[in-house]
Amino acid sequence: MDRTLKFNVFRYNPMARGTAPRMDTFVLPEIPSMTLFIALNQIREEQDPSLQFDFCCRAGICGACGMLINGRPGLACKTKTKDLPGEITLLPLPVFKLVGDLSVDTGSWFREMYSRVGSWIHSDKEFDPLAEEERMDNALANEIYELERCVECGCCVAGCGTARMRKDFLGAVALNRIARFALDPRDKRTDRDYFEIIGDDNGIFGCMGLLGCEDVCPKELPLQDQLGFLRRKMGLTAIRRFLPGAK
Ligand code: SF4
Ligand code: SF4
Ligand code: FES
Repeated sequence: MDRTLKFNVFRYNPMARGTAPRMDTFVLPEIPSMTLFIALNQIREEQDPSLQFDFCCRAGICGACGMLINGRPGLACKTKTKDLPGEITLLPLPVFKLVGDLSVDTGSWFREMYSRVGSWIHSDKEFDPLAEEERMDNALANEIYELERCVECGCCVAGCGTARMRKDFLGAVALNRIARFALDPRDKRTDRDYFEIIGDDNGIFGCMGLLGCEDVCPKELPLQDQLGFLRRKMGLTAIRRFLPGAK
């Protein structure tokens, strides 16, 4: 059935002095296979060239087009309008700094997070550009690859109650990074090293375990498993810290 879609879109330019946030309404005829990305582009081309939103790949790969879609974090380019009601409300992702309208600055947040978790292989080996690549067991490589599929969209952070309440909470995406390095035999960090990074309320012990993160992850990363894995690992590390002579 042909539908006319009504879009309620958050508008605000924090750089424009004296303006206040508002909602604008746009109306569009739905077309077959329409995604929110297509609809927003059409609105910008035909109705309001000042509308701000981010996109790059249009294929669920760059993670740029995250937004709140009828209250739920998701990717505009992966969301088909046929799966939504006729009235669609779009808001920018919370937690991240607002650039304007639906565009947020996830880049700064992710840069800071990667620096806090030390998001690289920590090894004491000298880098030799001529050396052959180290071999890795296929099953383990696949396990690591599974966690590397994150596209840094920020949906899990925006959908996380703790991240909304606690500004410094690392969020599921950072905990997933730690789980990824903890699996990697090339990373020489110990559980105690990881505990220094995530062993408090801004890390794994601040996570309430209600799994809004996994529910909204557009790449379906197994975040629940990683949070459980780290909670056990860091819980044991905490106990060992208080046992005399424990390593
Ligand atoms: S399970 Fe933890 S990280 Fe995931 S949404 Fe809940 S509090 Fe946030
Ligand atoms: S874990 Fe999922 S929701 Fe979170 S940033 Fe990565 S892809 Fe996005
Ligand atoms: S535009 Fe790249 S994920 Fe949507």
